[in-house]
Amino acid sequence: MLPFVVRRVRPEDLDACHRLEQCCFPPAEAASREKVAARIERFPEAFLVAEADGVVVGQVSCGATHKDDITDEAFKALIGHHPDGRNLVVFTLTTDPGWRKRGVASALMARLLADARARGRARVLLLCKDDLKGFYQGLGFADGGLSASTHGGTTWSEMRLDLG
Ligand SMILES: CC(C)(COP(=O)(O)OP(=O)(O)OC[C@H]1O[C@@H](n2cnc3c(N)ncnc32)[C@H](O)[C@@H]1OP(=O)(O)O)[C@@H](O)C(=O)NCCC(=O)NCCS
Repeated sequence: MLPFVVRRVRPEDLDACHRLEQCCFPPAEAASREKVAARIERFPEAFLVAEADGVVVGQVSCGATHKDDITDEAFKALIGHHPDGRNLVVFTLTTDPGWRKRGVASALMARLLADARARGRARVLLLCKDDLKGFYQGLGFADGGLSASTHGGTTWSEMRLDLG
């Protein structure tokens, strides 16, 4: 049995999810508390956490859109988010440093993809740095090439998974 459970986010997870943002990303890339709160409030359907002994040790959060262009910074604050959008866009995937390499992120993504399929989404899209392409390819994502996004002042590759 896994030493953690994957479940949908709850309002009371805000502090823990914001803490994960801060400890897992450089300051320019971490989502603000306000952004995390908005994602929990407006789209809990695709915001999952991994919980071990009552502590949140991993998270994945998303927005949904009919667009294929995911470079819009405002979308990260859910501006232009449509809950019924055909595409799911992953904003954040983080595992607490003390819990890495134990399958937390893989389990979160597996559940997210299963839910997206069941919900009839067409595609899951995300941006990642080059060293994580292999991780996402292992989950079935294809490399969509260099993104126009300069989020956090760095370069990103776009990864996409067609669910159809
Ligand atoms: C990336 C991250 C979420 C992975 O979390 P995790 O819970 O350790 O991942 P898993 O244990 O499910 O690992 C799954 C596989 O990916 C590999 N992997 C994990 N982190 C990796 C990394 N940083 N680089 C390359 N491969 C990695 C693991 O070795 C494992 O491979 P295996 O199944 O062949 O052993 C975690 O390292 C993290 O929070 N990083 C900082 C935030 C970040 O960069 N998030 C991604 C944004 S696009």
